[in-house]
Amino acid sequence: MDIRRSLSNHAGPRRSPHEVLRRLAERVAPGTRPEDPVRELEERVAGLLGKDSALFFPSGTMAQQVALRVHAERTGRHAFAGHPQSHLHVWENQGYSAVHGLRFHPAGDRNALLGLEDLEAVREPLAAVVIELPQRDIGGQLPSLEDLAAQTRWARENGARAHCDGARLWEAQTGFDVTLAEIAGLFDTVYVSLYKGLEGARGAVLAGDGATIEHAAVWRRRLGGSIADAWPLAAIALMGMDENLPRMVEFRDHARALAEAINAGGFAHTVPESPATPLFHVHLPMSREQAQRAARNLEEQAGITLFLYARSNPDPRRCSFEISVGINALEFTPREVAELIRGLPSRV
Ligand SMILES: Cc1ncc(COP(=O)(O)O)c(C=O)c1O
Repeated sequence: MDIRRSLSNHAGPRRSPHEVLRRLAERVAPGTRPEDPVRELEERVAGLLGKDSALFFPSGTMAQQVALRVHAERTGRHAFAGHPQSHLHVWENQGYSAVHGLRFHPAGDRNALLGLEDLEAVREPLAAVVIELPQRDIGGQLPSLEDLAAQTRWARENGARAHCDGARLWEAQTGFDVTLAEIAGLFDTVYVSLYKGLEGARGAVLAGDGATIEHAAVWRRRLGGSIADAWPLAAIALMGMDENLPRMVEFRDHARALAEAINAGGFAHTVPESPATPLFHVHLPMSREQAQRAARNLEEQAGITLFLYARSNPDPRRCSFEISVGINALEFTPREVAELIRGLPSRV
C-alpha cells in the first residue's frame, strides 16, 4: 500500500528508514565518535530539565521500571501510586511486579485526572508517586501547575519520591506557562521519550540527581540496557530536538485548530474540547471495528493514514482515536481533517 500522507506522527513517509537515514547523514558530522551522540543527548536533556544527571535507556518501559526500583530501594518501600490508566500498569504486563516485586496502587478515577484527594486516600507508605504528563489515555488532559505542585509536594511530605512519566513532556510543556526545567523541578526523577514528539527511532532518557541516576545505571546494566553503540538512536533523537522541539507550540496551535473544525462538524467531538497540548482524542459514533475498517479503506483508496488504531469504548457503538500533531499533521488543513472524519461512515 502506498501511504502518501499520515496524520499520525508515528507513521508515514517521514518515518521511513530511508528518509530518516537521509536526514541523519546530513546531521552527523565526519569525525563523530560512537560515544558522542549519547553523551550529547544526556547532557542536553539534563540541561533542559535542570537536573544534575541524565541516562539513556533503550526504552521508556525499562527507564521507568528502573526509576521505581531505585526509589523503592532508597525509601525501603514497595508500593507506588499513579493513575489507573498508567502505562506502567496497562501496557507493560506488570513488569514492575514480575521483575521488581513492586506493587501498584491505582489512585483516583480511570477517566479523570489524578487529584490530591486521590493521593490522600491511598493510606499506605509509598516509594513513589507517578504522574503522567499529559495523561494520554484520557485524551492528553493536563493538570494545572498548582495541582501538580500540590501532588508532588504531598509525595515528598509523605516520604515518597515524585516521578514524572514524561513520555510526552516535550508536548506537555506547551500547556503550562513555565519552562521544562520548572516542570521537571517539581519531580525527583523525570523520564522523557525520544520517539514520540521528537520522532526518533526509539529510546528514552531518565533524569534526576547524581546519586539516583548512578544507582539507575546499575539496574540498567543488570537488565541489559547498557548498549555500547546506542548512537543511532541518540543521533536521531538529537535531530528531533533540533527540528521538533522549537515547533511544539505550533503543533499545539494546529491541534486546537483541528479540534475546533472537528467539533464544528457535529459528527465527532474531541476530548479535550480545546487541546492543552498537541495531543487529543476524537470520539466517533461508530464501533471500533467500523472505524478501523473505514480507516484501512481510506489508506487503500486515498493513500492517507488518519489513525493507526481505534480505541474501544464501554458503549460498543462508539470508539475514539488519538491525534498527536507533529510535522506530518501540519500538511492537513483543519477543514480537510474534519471532512475525512465526517466521511468515515461512507468508507465502511
Ligand atoms: C505514557 C507512556 N509512558 C511510557 C511509555 C513507554 O515507552 P517505550 O515505548 O519507550 O517503552 C509509553 C509508550 O508509548 C507511553 O505512552
